[in-house]
This record gives sequence, C-alpha cells and structure tokens, in this order.
Amino acid sequence: MLPSATRLLWPGRASSEKEASDNPGCFLEPSFHYEPRTHLFFEGDNLAVLKLLLPELSEKIRVLYIDPPYNTGNRMLYHDRFRKDAQGLSGTDRHDHWLSMIYPRLLLGHRLLRRDGVLFASIDDNEVHHLRSLLDEIFGEENFVSMITWRKKVVRGRGNRHILPQTEYILVYAREIGALPPFSEPLSPAMQREYLHHDDHGPFKKIPFAKSGTRQSPRPNLVYPIEAPDKTRIECPTHQWRWSRETFERRANEILIERNRNGRWSVYTKQYLKQDGGMRQRTPESYYDRVTTTDGTKEMKDLFGEVLLDFPKPSRLIRDLIKWATPHGSSDPVMDFFAGSGTTGQAVMELNMEDGGARPFILVETANPTPHPGFPTIGSICRERINRCRDRLVKEGGTPLSIKEFRTVPVS
Ligand SMILES: C[S@@+](CC[C@H](N)C(=O)[O-])C[C@H]1O[C@@H](n2cnc3c(N)ncnc32)[C@H](O)[C@@H]1O
Repeated sequence: MLPSATRLLWPGRASSEKEASDNPGCFLEPSFHYEPRTHLFFEGDNLAVLKLLLPELSEKIRVLYIDPPYNTGNRMLYHDRFRKDAQGLSGTDRHDHWLSMIYPRLLLGHRLLRRDGVLFASIDDNEVHHLRSLLDEIFGEENFVSMITWRKKVVRGRGNRHILPQTEYILVYAREIGALPPFSEPLSPAMQREYLHHDDHGPFKKIPFAKSGTRQSPRPNLVYPIEAPDKTRIECPTHQWRWSRETFERRANEILIERNRNGRWSVYTKQYLKQDGGMRQRTPESYYDRVTTTDGTKEMKDLFGEVLLDFPKPSRLIRDLIKWATPHGSSDPVMDFFAGSGTTGQAVMELNMEDGGARPFILVETANPTPHPGFPTIGSICRERINRCRDRLVKEGGTPLSIKEFRTVPVS
C-alpha cells in the first residue's frame, strides 16, 4: 500500500470502499459451488456477483481481463456517462462518479487473483490516469507490468481536433510480480521466414557478431582480434563483440565467418529457430496493432447479422493477452466481470480449441435492458454469443467445456 500522501482522493471514496464489504442484498440462482471444469456466466451487477463469489473464488483466478465503461460521455447501450443527472455535472464530478463505481470492484477483483495471477484492464484517455493511480495503490506500484498501447483504429486526414486519437491502453498488473511467469508467444510467420539458412541443427538466421551502436567505453574482454579462414586478423568493426573470447571459442560451432560483398570478412552468430527442443519464443511488446475495433464489430456482425453492442473488442486481442499469460494447453481460469457481448468467452473457447487447453471462463454482465428484439438484457446478448460460439466450435469437431448460467435474485 502506498503512503496516504500519494493516494487518489475524491468525494465518495470512503463510502465506495465500504460498498466492497456491504451485504450484496441478493443471492445466486441456482446456488453456486465452484466447478473448475465448467465455463460460468453470471447475469447481474458485478459488485454483488463478486461479493457472492469471493468465498469460493478467492485467489483462484489466473487471468482477469476487464473492459469497464470508459466514461466517454457518449450515449451507448450501456451506461457510459457518470453524472448525476441529464444536465451533467462539472468535469471533476464526472470522474468522482466513475472512481466510486470502479474502486470497490477493483478491490474485490484483486482478492480473486492467484499469487501468479495477472490483471489486464482496457481503458482510454478519459480515465487512464485515474485507473493507473488506483491500481498502483491496490496492487502496489512494484506489481505494475506494462501499459500496452493498442492502435484501435487507423484514422487519417484533417479533423477539427489537434491530434487524431487512434489508440487506447491496456494496463497490466501482477498480483505478485515475482510469482508471475514471463510472458511469451511464438514468432510470427514473417519472423519465422527470416530463418532462411540451414545446417544440421535446422533453420537459423545470421546475427552480426559485432554489437551495433557505439559506446564510449567498450568492455575490454569483448574487444579482441578473430582469425579468419585465410589466417588474417579480423578486428571488431564496432565498439565490441557480443561474446568474450572464451564464449566465442566454446560456442565455435555457432559462429560463421564469411566474406561479404566487398570481399571483407564478416563474423556472425547463428540464431536457431528451434531452442531447447521447441520453437523459439519471443516476448510480447507494449505496442499492439494486430487488430482494430472494426474487427470486433465485424465478428459481432458475422455472429448476429447486426451490431448489438457498441465497440465490442476484437477477440484476437483478448486471445493474445491470455495466450501470453497462460501456458500452452493451460486450464487456468480466466475472468471478465464487464463482459459486454462476451468477447472474452469467445477468446477463451477459441484459444482452448487452438492449443488443446481447458481454461474455464467466468463472465459477469448486467441484466440491464436493451432495445433489441429478442435480447431483453445485455446479459442475454452475452449469453447468446457464448452459446453460438460454443455451438460453432462443436460443429468444427471441438469439445468445449459446458457453460453453466446463474443470475442474481434480490433478497425479498
Ligand atoms: C466496454 S463494455 C465491454 C465490452 C466487451 N469487452 C465486449 O467486447 O463486448 C462494458 C460493459 O460493462 C457492463 N457493465 C457496466 N457496469 C456493470 C456492472 N455494474 N455489472 C456488470 N456489468 C457492467 C456494461 O453493461 C457493458 O456491457
């Protein structure tokens, strides 16, 4: 916990903190007992649902993805204007209401995470600074992993703004940084194509043995002459080599000395595509531009023939996050308590299908009404989407986990 001087203060903080422990005022129907080999869907207010789940799910969640309302002030299917009345309040009040909404939910979400668990929280310019401060406080600054910038759309041209917005963010926090395994993912097909040379150990790519860049003070043990096949001396063309002479001699079979186009000798190391018996992996980067919001909208149109919820996330984005954070073929639970149209459910089922995993999802979405015929609540859109996705995977020969549904019922 940070010293109180650096805490974010807003009117309503104390009462919103209390809300995390107040009686939920409802119960789950049917009654709930955690079953790790089943997908779970809850319809109701996530604050109540989180409180009801806490006794059984405390420290059980491995990946928590959330995509809360961003407080854009836009009129959307779900509530995204955190103001008291239609006239609107001043700018600061807008943030106060949002903070009071998110704070107790984050407190409870944090308690659901395992020691090796991780939170991914989508957010945009409206509240990113507040969310980051709150998460620093709840998770501890030392557990901050990254702020991923997602290029969500490509807009060009001349608008009436100063800078055209194209990006939003995903804040990443570990429950306990030392317990969170490093993230990795396979090389992209384009990266794999760079391994165009072959020897007995398989495909490799050539990496210059001389370090790039210039440093004022090279390390003396990394500067030495290398003997070329014609017995001439090759001096390091940059400030230093990558390895010491001892390593160079020990790993001589990974060294390649060739004449370059102008007849001079060049030294390379061979970087093999296979490593430790498997394919080489890479560490994901903090800039993500593989899909845009248009892909999310298209997925929803493909499934329903229309867009029932504004700006659903593209499932590839969420699938990639889960893929980075969980092992191949994992059965780690993944939760999303602002589930919207259920994109996280689709992402989990498709990733399981791809790598033979059995990760169960746990989704929560409101019973708030919608104007769409056939979909009385936002929760019903989510429920329908995960069921349709599951049916599609079954048709494709998969065996997805079954889905169990619950709803909150007020205590009368
Ligand atoms: C930004 S949307 C999530 C979109 C989702 N990621 C998708 O791809 O479809 C936020 C969602 O949170 C839901 N939400 C807001 N407040 C909630 C609450 N108290 N309990 C449960 N869900 C809530 C909204 O109804 C809305 O569907």
